[in-house]
Amino acid sequence: MSIYQATASAPVNIACIKYWGKRDTKLILPTNSSLSVTLDQDHLRSTTTSRADPSFEKDRLWLNGIEEEIKEGGRLATCIREMKRLRREVEEKDAKEPKLSSYAVHICSRNNFPTAAGLASSASGFAALVASLAALYKLPATPSQLSLIARQGSGSACRSLFGGYVAWEMGSSPDGSDSLAIEVAPQSHWPDIHALICVVSDDKKGTSSTSGMQRTVETSPLLQHRIKEVVPARMAAIQRAILARDFDAFARITMQDSNQFHAVCLDTDPPIFYMNDVSRTIIALITEYNRVSVANGGTLKAAYTYDAGPNAVIYAPKENMKEIVAMIVKYFPQADAFKDPFQLFGAAGVEG
Ligand code: ADP
Ligand code: DP6
Ligand code: CO
Repeated sequence: MSIYQATASAPVNIACIKYWGKRDTKLILPTNSSLSVTLDQDHLRSTTTSRADPSFEKDRLWLNGIEEEIKEGGRLATCIREMKRLRREVEEKDAKEPKLSSYAVHICSRNNFPTAAGLASSASGFAALVASLAALYKLPATPSQLSLIARQGSGSACRSLFGGYVAWEMGSSPDGSDSLAIEVAPQSHWPDIHALICVVSDDKKGTSSTSGMQRTVETSPLLQHRIKEVVPARMAAIQRAILARDFDAFARITMQDSNQFHAVCLDTDPPIFYMNDVSRTIIALITEYNRVSVANGGTLKAAYTYDAGPNAVIYAPKENMKEIVAMIVKYFPQADAFKDPFQLFGAAGVEG
C-alpha cells in the first residue's frame, strides 16, 4: 500500500502596485496588472499537506485545524479540479503512473500568522495549496503555469509562486491564459531591501478583499482613472526602479500606489476604510523621516504600504531598519506589549 502525500509551504507577498478590481470574477482576471515583493522568512507562511487515497470519499480541507467547506463551483473546488486535470495529463502520458486524479484529496493547512486580517493569508494560502498538490501529483509545471491556477483561488496568490520581485500581468485573453505571474528580478538581485511588518491589529477585517474590490469596480469613478491612466505607467516605472536598484524611485511609487488604493476605497459607495489612526500615524512618521533625509540632501529612506487592513508594511534598505524600528517603538511604546509586534524580513520564495 503506497502513501501519496506531499507538503509545501509558501510565504505571503506584499504588493507595491496594488491589485484591486476584477474584470472577470469567476476566473479572477484583474482590472490592472500588479507588482509585489515576496517575503522570504518563516514568519508569514502557509504550510499545506495534501494526501490522495482511494478510501477518501470526498475532497476535504482543514484550515488551522477547522474544516472549511469546499463549495461546489467555489475557489477551493476550482483549484483542486484544475490540479487534478493537470495530473490526468501526466497519467495519460505514462500508464505506469498511479491514477491519483481519480482519488479524493484531504488537505490540511496552517498559517503561522493571523488569517483574513489584511496580511495576505489568501496569497500564501492558495499558493501553498497549489504547490502541495503539484508536489503530490509530480507535475512538470513551471511556477508561471501554477500561478494560473493559484490565481483562481485568490488573485494575489499567483504572485507567491515566485520569490523576489514579481509582476502579475493582467493579460487580455478572455479565458485568462495570459493572466499570470512572472519574475521581475530574483531576491538576489536586490537583497538589501527588507520589510518591517507592523501588526496594528490582527482582527479579521470587516470587508473582505473580494467583496470590497467588487464594490469599488461597481461604484468608483476614480478606479477607472487609476486602471487606465495611472497603473500602466507605474508598472513600467517600478520595474525600471527595481532593475536599477533605485530605492528613491521604488519608495516614491510604492507609497503613491498605497495612497491611491486607499483613495479608491474611500471613493467606493458606501466607502471602505481599511486604515485606522495608528496606520495614519505611521504614515506621518515615515513621511517626516523621509522629509528630514531629503532636506539634508539625501534620498527617501523608507516606504510604507498598506493592504486591505490597518497593518503597515515598511520597505527600506537594511541599514535604515534599526533606526525605523527605534522611531516606531518610541511613538508606540505599548508595541513592546504586543505579541510579536514587529517582524523583520528580507525578500524571497516558495520552498517545498
Ligand atoms: P487576507 O488579507 O488574509 O488575504 P482575504 O479576505 O483576502 O484576507 O482572504 C482570507 C481567506 O483566504 C480565508 O478566509 C480563507 O478562505 C483563505 N485562506 C487563508 N489562508 C488559507 C490557507 N492556508 N489555505 C487555504 N485557504 C486559505
Ligand atoms: C489589497 O487577492 O485577497 O492585498 O482575488 O478576491 O481573493 P481575491 O482578493 P485578494 O486581494 C488582494 C488585495 C490587496 C492588493 C494586492 O495584494 O495586490
Ligand atoms: Co487576500
